[in-house]
Amino acid sequence: MTPADRAAALFRTAFAAQADAVASAPGRVNLVGEHVDYHGGHVLPVATAWRTAVAVGAAADGFAAVSEHGAPIRAAWPPARSGGWSDYVAGVVTEFLAADPAALGGLRVAVASDVPLGAGVSSSAALEVAAAAALAVLLRRSLSPRELAALAHRAETAFVGVPCGVMDQMASALTPAGSALLLDCRSLRTSAVPVGLDLVLAESGESHALRAGQYAARRREGDDALARLRAAVPTLGSLVDIPPASLPRLLPLLPPPLDRRVRHVVNENQRTVLAARALEAGDLATFGRLVNASHDSLRDLYECSTARLDAIVTAARRLPGVLGARLVGAGWGGAVLVVAAPGEGDRVAERLRADVALALPAVRVIRPGAGVGG
Ligand code: GLA
Repeated sequence: MTPADRAAALFRTAFAAQADAVASAPGRVNLVGEHVDYHGGHVLPVATAWRTAVAVGAAADGFAAVSEHGAPIRAAWPPARSGGWSDYVAGVVTEFLAADPAALGGLRVAVASDVPLGAGVSSSAALEVAAAAALAVLLRRSLSPRELAALAHRAETAFVGVPCGVMDQMASALTPAGSALLLDCRSLRTSAVPVGLDLVLAESGESHALRAGQYAARRREGDDALARLRAAVPTLGSLVDIPPASLPRLLPLLPPPLDRRVRHVVNENQRTVLAARALEAGDLATFGRLVNASHDSLRDLYECSTARLDAIVTAARRLPGVLGARLVGAGWGGAVLVVAAPGEGDRVAERLRADVALALPAVRVIRPGAGVGG
């Protein structure tokens, strides 16, 4: 059964009624372009074939939510932030109510998902985008995938309180089947890039305890660096506007570690554009080198890797058939993305699973999927 079928069935069992609408959305894995989305840079995510489905039904009163993976939730209407899994749905509900407070007097929700949790594939964006799509159908609001992504992103930042960039929700809403999405996070221009290689995700099993605080700290460092550079270059709109050739002139204006952070952002943004070009040209060796350079920069300049992520990357890079490996997502734990030559993914995954020294909790071959849909 697909997640959509399972969400509809779960809705019937939990609420003894048919859902009014069901929609699903994928997780994502970012090939290259890490920690640049919130600076308006370029990212290159792929949608996963794993999806989250949300079934919704209007109710006379209250908020009730059930999931295959979390405890059932019951709350007053409109739902307030609880700290639980249903906040991603409640945040989306809040956005619809902001547009029309009388749109709904209560809601029942059932969630089914294949997207692995805590594996760096953005299960939260999948849940938000699927919830937004299901509610749009229920409320007869015709929203484009871009509008769904923007609404889901507001839910995550304003309601859930995570100061993330736009990549995850845009990837979950817009990625075309079988392609990566080259996304300019400032203009929101997109283009599809065919993915002619295999992708393997190795979960580190490390806790994300440090992540939220460190992520917010990196964002503040970026804002601080931009403010300091504007004293010298008043027209500078964003860090990604700095041409790589100007780094030798501008970086000495910044104290450490701000100089390292800026060097990462500027070069990573350029790497993403070059990586998309390499993929388009079928130049997999160049693509792999850029993936490796991305990790090295995240480790040395952005300082968001861990010893364990580095060890997984080093081991993966030694395997036959591997083009490149890097930490993926925010870092400070999470997962490593291993890029393998076409047809090599299953073999690479097997070898990583068999590495007793690494003792990886989960190694998965990623099948590319497509953005939001029914
Ligand atoms: C997290 C955020 C994204 C992005 C990445 C780092 O996954 O949700 O918006 O900033 O970190 O590239």
